[in-house]
Amino acid sequence: MKKISYLLVVLFISAGFRLQAHEGMWIPMLLQQNFAEMQRMGLKLTPEQIYSVNHSSLKDAIAGLSNSPHPQGFFCTSEIVSDQGLLFTNHHCGYESVQKHSTVEHDYLKDGFWAMSKKEELPNKGLTASILVRMADVSDSILPHVSDTMSQQERAKIINPIIARLKKANSENGKYNVVIKPFFEGNKYYMLVYIVYRDVRLVGAPPSSIGKFGGDTDNWMWPRHTGDFTIFRIYTAPDGSPADYSPKNVPLKPKYHLPISLDGIKEGDFAMVWGFPGSTNRYMTAPELEFRMEHYYPPLVEAFGKKLEVWKKHMDANPDVKIKYASNYAMIANSWKYFIGQMRGVKKQHVIAKKKAFDEEFSKWVAENPERKAKYGEVLPDITSAFQAESKTIEPLIYASITGAQGAELLGFAQKLGAVEGLLKQIKETKDKEQKAKKMKRLKEMTAELSGKLHKMYKDYDMPTDRDVFAAMTQMFFQKVPENLHPEYLDKLAKKFKNNFNAMADYVFEKSHFSTEAKAKAFLENPELKAIEKDPAYLLSQQYMAKLMDASGQYRAASGKLAKGKRLFMKGIMEMEPNKVFYPDANSTLRYSYGKVEGYYPRDAVHYLFQTHLYGVMQKEDSTNPEFIVPKKLKELYEKKDFGPYGQDGKQDVDFLTTNDITGGNSGSPVINGKGELIGLAFDGNWEAMSGDIAYIPKLQRTIVVDIRYVLFIIDKYAGDTRLIDELTIHKSVPQPNRVEAAAVTSESQK
Ligand code: ARG
Repeated sequence: MKKISYLLVVLFISAGFRLQAHEGMWIPMLLQQNFAEMQRMGLKLTPEQIYSVNHSSLKDAIAGLSNSPHPQGFFCTSEIVSDQGLLFTNHHCGYESVQKHSTVEHDYLKDGFWAMSKKEELPNKGLTASILVRMADVSDSILPHVSDTMSQQERAKIINPIIARLKKANSENGKYNVVIKPFFEGNKYYMLVYIVYRDVRLVGAPPSSIGKFGGDTDNWMWPRHTGDFTIFRIYTAPDGSPADYSPKNVPLKPKYHLPISLDGIKEGDFAMVWGFPGSTNRYMTAPELEFRMEHYYPPLVEAFGKKLEVWKKHMDANPDVKIKYASNYAMIANSWKYFIGQMRGVKKQHVIAKKKAFDEEFSKWVAENPERKAKYGEVLPDITSAFQAESKTIEPLIYASITGAQGAELLGFAQKLGAVEGLLKQIKETKDKEQKAKKMKRLKEMTAELSGKLHKMYKDYDMPTDRDVFAAMTQMFFQKVPENLHPEYLDKLAKKFKNNFNAMADYVFEKSHFSTEAKAKAFLENPELKAIEKDPAYLLSQQYMAKLMDASGQYRAASGKLAKGKRLFMKGIMEMEPNKVFYPDANSTLRYSYGKVEGYYPRDAVHYLFQTHLYGVMQKEDSTNPEFIVPKKLKELYEKKDFGPYGQDGKQDVDFLTTNDITGGNSGSPVINGKGELIGLAFDGNWEAMSGDIAYIPKLQRTIVVDIRYVLFIIDKYAGDTRLIDELTIHKSVPQPNRVEAAAVTSESQK
């Protein structure tokens, strides 16, 4: 019943105002919101073929990748492309897995990795792939029990038990993993029922000189020439159910897998993206945006920038360190450039002024009648004063956490391994013999468990690198963090070493029991209270945390108030524009975006074409710059024009652009044509529209996609892993004359 009434409402409102261009990360179960428009733009599938609860449909081929056994924290998206559970995603999404399997002798980051049989496919502990089984609007089970004016805490007290009950009722005795999340800042609640697969193996990855070609220089930029893909496979227990890794597991028999088109693309073609966008802030108010631009991002950029600098120095000097820190470096470098790009974009696109104008419009609307005033009158003033207050305290907190508590990895180790301290204390204080023996036994178990984890903890650790990080971060801490946030012990050390942070680092790393795996092992074999109580790394980690917890209490209380303000603001703006079809901000749930293949004008007199080619890779080649090295084999294939069925008119297409609306988490998402075929993998956004997570800019915002034909060319011609090609469902139709013409024009103008 409910579904139908919802549908009617939706049909009614979608006749009203439309969002500009192709903005929006839309909810799969509400496909009707955009279906007619998508059809007009070239979609040939039926709604049932895309999202169906009872039959297999396109959505069954989309999997969120996570390092959690629960369907949460999807860092990337992947898609099933064969009836044996083969998964495509981005190279930068598989990067951490590839890194973990790499050593100086077998450097899969540098050389690539290709399993030539299923036996050679490599398990990745902890990596999971979640597929959405169904979703439902559960707002009616939740919202009638709370009121708009309740505080977040009051609401949580009522909402949490209802959510727990709904989750239990829908998990089918643990077969499914159920998540219920607020959407539209808590003005709606949707339930997401997932199946989570826990045996996801690495199948193939190109060398970084293909998968990360252009490196951090080209990252977030167009024109791009990156083969940003990696291949995994989902395995299940022999009965098809999810299972932890076991040699007895078998490849997943999926409900659905995506066919692949070799027909290529042309400008204006319909394109649809499915995936798990992580977070956007499209309804952010001006005061929050100002807060971020002035007080939040700048300290992050500075602190991360310093850390990257130290890491890079060590990575460039030592191939072993280069592998060990590759994944963490890439992750932070990516965010770092994102923050910088976003600040730049917000300025260039005058986003603050636009937000201010919108906030004003809202205030006017609120002031128009007393009822609104009562409901929403305090919303913007509250948000404004909250951010004014936070802007006074946030910077020291960011510096304290990034350069202090999270500065050196050593402190994290000390924190974890020091967990035995509490127990050691209890043992010392316990007089009763029996009790004491019990606690001793518990201690044995605890240290045994920690010892078992040591190897993994220290596998990618390089002490000299971390020592330099400690020195640099501590120095910044002293420059940026006011004294009330200083751990007492840190000040003592600083005094002792007369603010010579290198000398201080030498002392801390020398003295600590946790700065090498061997030392940590020895400590756990014979754990002594005195040793840990005097361990400088342990002392620092404890005191940093205590100070931060103290100081952030206030901050957390304020953010509860803010959540309420944002919820009411969202409710208000939806009321203000009753004919507009809103989409909720991204929140790591499955969404679709629709648009088309299209280039753009980055600045006056400059037009970016929608597509790049392999000759562009050769043009960018620079053998003196590690980011722009071209593998020999790729050059040979290029010179022989040995592109197989993946090239067109003597050219190999590489990347292309669409107008789809995506964000972090969408990486690896399938880009799908009107016939439901895979035409590429989304992997990036563009520099000119880095403010996109806050404000979508139709003229500029593009999704950067690796052409699926480039992916197949690399698998087939470069790596020779033809067994994978044989698994795929490949569609190729007879070339149409108009496409050949269009391609000829492009090649003329580019060569
Ligand atoms: N900017 C991309 C994202 O956030 C990551 C691209 C990775 N490539 C690179 N060269 N770091 O998903």
